[in-house]
Amino acid sequence: MASIGQPIDRVDGHLKVTGRARYAAEFELPDVTYAVLVQSTIGAGEITGFDLARAKAMPGVLAIITPENAPKLSIKEGPQQVVRAPLLQDMRVHYNGQHVGVVVADTLDRAAAAASAVRVHYRREEPVTSMDAVLGQAYVPTRFRNGERPPDTRRGDPDGAFSAAAIRIEANYTTPVEHHNPMEPHATIARWEGDRLTVWTTTQGISAAQQSLATLFGIDRGKVHVLSPYLGGGFGSKGNTWPPAVIAAMAARMVDRPVKLVTTRAQMFTSNGYRPRTIQKLRFAADADGRLVAMRHDGFAQTSMPAVGEFAEPVGLATEMLYACPNVAVTHRLVALNAGLPTYMRAPGLASGNFALESAMDELAAALKMDPLEFRLRNYAEQDPHEKKPYASKALRACYQQGAELFGWARRSPEPRSMREGDVLIGWGMATSTYPTHRMPAKACVRLEADGHAVVQVGTQDIGTGTYTVMSQIAADALGLPLERIRCELGDSALPPAPISGGSMTVASVGPAVLAACQAVRDRLFEHTRAEPRFGLQNAPTDALRLEDAAVVGPEGRVGLAELLGSKGVEFVEAEGSAKAGEEHERYAMHSFGAQFAEVRFDPLIGQLRVSRFVGAFDGGRVMNAKTARSQLIGGIVYGLGMALLEETHVDGETGRIVNANVAEYLMPVNADVPDIQTILVANDERTSNPLGAKGIGELPMVGVAAAVANAVFHATGVRVRDLPIRIERLV
Ligand code: MOS
Repeated sequence: MASIGQPIDRVDGHLKVTGRARYAAEFELPDVTYAVLVQSTIGAGEITGFDLARAKAMPGVLAIITPENAPKLSIKEGPQQVVRAPLLQDMRVHYNGQHVGVVVADTLDRAAAAASAVRVHYRREEPVTSMDAVLGQAYVPTRFRNGERPPDTRRGDPDGAFSAAAIRIEANYTTPVEHHNPMEPHATIARWEGDRLTVWTTTQGISAAQQSLATLFGIDRGKVHVLSPYLGGGFGSKGNTWPPAVIAAMAARMVDRPVKLVTTRAQMFTSNGYRPRTIQKLRFAADADGRLVAMRHDGFAQTSMPAVGEFAEPVGLATEMLYACPNVAVTHRLVALNAGLPTYMRAPGLASGNFALESAMDELAAALKMDPLEFRLRNYAEQDPHEKKPYASKALRACYQQGAELFGWARRSPEPRSMREGDVLIGWGMATSTYPTHRMPAKACVRLEADGHAVVQVGTQDIGTGTYTVMSQIAADALGLPLERIRCELGDSALPPAPISGGSMTVASVGPAVLAACQAVRDRLFEHTRAEPRFGLQNAPTDALRLEDAAVVGPEGRVGLAELLGSKGVEFVEAEGSAKAGEEHERYAMHSFGAQFAEVRFDPLIGQLRVSRFVGAFDGGRVMNAKTARSQLIGGIVYGLGMALLEETHVDGETGRIVNANVAEYLMPVNADVPDIQTILVANDERTSNPLGAKGIGELPMVGVAAAVANAVFHATGVRVRDLPIRIERLV
């Protein structure tokens, strides 16, 4: 039976629950030393000197590295963005918590004690910490989407159409700074052998990390070996090669011993990016029949000071493509603060952007006195209105219908504050979800052994989403073998290269390469089969042969793998496969879609707001594994509930210091916050986007959640909350 699509347990599940799956920080190297970072305590300024005497005299200290003695790195613009400023290269301080030094000692405790004894002298400057205060200095991003598209787009005459429209809304929405907080902290063990560097590190992209480290240390890419066999989540925070990994490698070179550097939970708020705060100004208009006539979405996002780097949160991407509207303008602007470099965080741009977009759609539906779902159906885009192309597939209508049916949307009473149970106000809200379908080139190698076992090798990494499992399934089906006969090797930069695990593109990118390698193995076996007359299959056409239970099977017989390979005097067949996007990406628009439905209950007597029910229906293309897919959907919705109700990083305006850099005060949903979540994966057997037909489901399920909840809160209470997270003090 084909394994693709089945609800199959993770192939690495046992290893994980028994502790045998080893994560970066868990590798044991002889002679290892420990590094602890020293961070700035001012928000902006210059380091005038270090007082290291006390720290140096402490037991076990092997080295203290500061900008005064750190080796110079080669920081040039490469294919991979290198995070520049906090690499101990100069005495400038751009934000509070910037790395300004590192202490290496023979034990972790000794390194930590000495790090706390390091004294740094500063010349302080006033940090810029408030976006609102410097909004007038907003500027156009210099490298929006890696320069692949302009930051602003426009079709028709949105301002003219807005002024002339019957129904208009104009509203500003804000989203706060949020941090990824994966369960596993960032960790690196670095070891030099001559001019060869090996790192065990927490990265979503072993190839990208290999390139970044090679660039920075000015060595050949082939001299850097990156290992990342298991990851405890990343959510985008492990996409870049952040300073701690680089500083660990720097320190290992200085002490000439392996160095282990694990960031603390607090340091993860200042070391590896975050979702930047956004201010979004929307002006939407419709005609009296509920047809959108104008959409204007002006997005402002915070970034770091230019010396640190630039990151532009793409909040307007869905506004330009999600609905059929003739007049649309989207702009993206940046506001530089004395803050670390922001980065991708699960559904970057779309998560914050769709809060504004889908809230504004709800506001417009309310102004039209039209059901919010009906309003969206009335503006359904049959082809991509931005790219002006047909979709490779779009089952959004099925998502709306099946989601609404399961939720019971038809029983919604339209007026705000009209549904209640005793004193408790009940609200139902919905929103649309979407995420682009990305694909990058990848290679894979497959070896099929005579005993019917196969090894799949590919230089991708499993960030916790189930890559080992899904790649094993793809190979099992393609080779006609049961899943337990497949062994998958990932997370090693010596394996065939694959892209970063981000942008929800791993299955779409890596899957086809595994498939191609399996097909190459199969073709070779069929060739051998037909070349040998005694197997009696020499006249069988290729498409009449198949691989099944470790045998080549044809119309007039079968030959076992052992016999087949034995006849060639070999013990295995091995082949490489590579895959990349073709011209279908020029002809079709590719996105995944979804419909989100939330029920909230607000008790005005005690000011309690709960999400009591949630339904998400999704079109992520063809489903690879119903179980890991459902895990992704639930995880994404929970991530969205955090965005809606809880998550916010607080920065002290005077010092630029993050004041809730811990998981007690940075609130995230716990089980008690998570209601009954029901998910639907609508049927879609497409194969246009890529040979597997998987459009991506990693980020899709969190998009629209915050808007669905805010829209439900409006329906329950009549209060429109336009600033995340939604706070009860706005409702009482
Ligand atoms: Mo994801 S934010 O593309 O790792």
